[in-house]
Amino acid sequence: MLKRFFIVLAIGLAVPHLSAQVNVQLEALKRLKGIDLDATPAIKKVVLDLLEASSGQAAFVEIVRDFKLRGHEAELLRYAQGHPNDSTGVEAIRLLLNDEGLKLIRAAIDGEHAADTVAVLANALAPEAGPVLLRLARDQKKPLALRAIAVSGLAKTKTGAKELLTAAKAGRLPADLNFAAGNALRGARWKNLRSQAAKLFPPPQGLGQALPPLAKLVAMKGDMANGEKIFFRPQSTCATCHQVNGRGIDFGPKLSGIGTKLGREALLLSILDPNAGIPFGYEAWLLKTKNGAEALGIITSQTDDELTLKLPGGISIAYKTSEIAKRTQLPISIMPPGLQATMTPQELVDMITYLHSLKQAKP
Ligand code: HEC
Repeated sequence: MLKRFFIVLAIGLAVPHLSAQVNVQLEALKRLKGIDLDATPAIKKVVLDLLEASSGQAAFVEIVRDFKLRGHEAELLRYAQGHPNDSTGVEAIRLLLNDEGLKLIRAAIDGEHAADTVAVLANALAPEAGPVLLRLARDQKKPLALRAIAVSGLAKTKTGAKELLTAAKAGRLPADLNFAAGNALRGARWKNLRSQAAKLFPPPQGLGQALPPLAKLVAMKGDMANGEKIFFRPQSTCATCHQVNGRGIDFGPKLSGIGTKLGREALLLSILDPNAGIPFGYEAWLLKTKNGAEALGIITSQTDDELTLKLPGGISIAYKTSEIAKRTQLPISIMPPGLQATMTPQELVDMITYLHSLKQAKP
């Protein structure tokens, strides 16, 4: 038996880089999984050669898994980061949920591939990932968008959802996660956890009506023309900070082409949870001058001896560096949360439909 497999494998290896060949060999190999490779050096060599030939491919992950190979953690992690939303990427990260692997994962969360690492970890639905995700969620030095992904990953497993609820009840979950945690936990699969979540994180309101969950809002149909009216009507306040095609006040990002930058879900999030994704250059700064005045705004230019701050309302003020006593970047957006409270859920969806239709600045 073994000999025949070996022959199939050896023939395949003559052309190791053809993926069809690799597949044939893999099929043959699959039937050998679980075999003690150390007791069968010839097969071990075939397996290791095949592993090398399939570097960077799904087959690599399968071979490591099927033969319980050790010492390939770094490459598994790279594969997982490169495929955060597919099942083999998730498989790769799951193979790393042991002491050694978790160390690598924690280091990756502090490194340049943090976003992909957290995304794939959140997709793993693994209780072992819980402590890592919870720690990240609570770390306010990390970007809120990353921490929100960690929260949604936690809420997908029962242990993770419980950990989140326990942390929230004990006051150990920073308040800037309220939206993300509420949204994820109110939609969790377990009924009693859902009802605890609804008490801890009441759903955002739209004119006195509880907003449907995010996924439902994303799917609702809206009326573009009405959405334009909602955006510009005074109680919505949007136009006091945003311009669309020259209309409105130029303070926050111009929204004339926003429909090409953000999808419906991201548009909804930018209103329901403005702190989650602050575009570069629109961070909030608090300046204190030496004569005791304070100003909150966006820094639009700065040189060695001067700094310009744009204030809500669109006015810019130039400050001499020598006048400034202190400047602090705030972790929150100048766009206030809760603006949807002046509109019904349907009006909110109408406005999102309008914003999503804005693909290009018009002269
Ligand atoms: C007080 C000023 C202010 C008001 C009022 C305001 N925004 Fe904003 N908005 C900002 C700022 C500043 C940003 C950039 C920082 C951020 O994303 O939080 C922003 C970001 C956005 C973004 C994301 C833009 C991008 O390029 O990523 C959208 C969409 C948006 N606002 C829509 C709205 C809508 C719709 C309303 C009304 C319901 C509104 N804003 C009200 C100041 C405001």
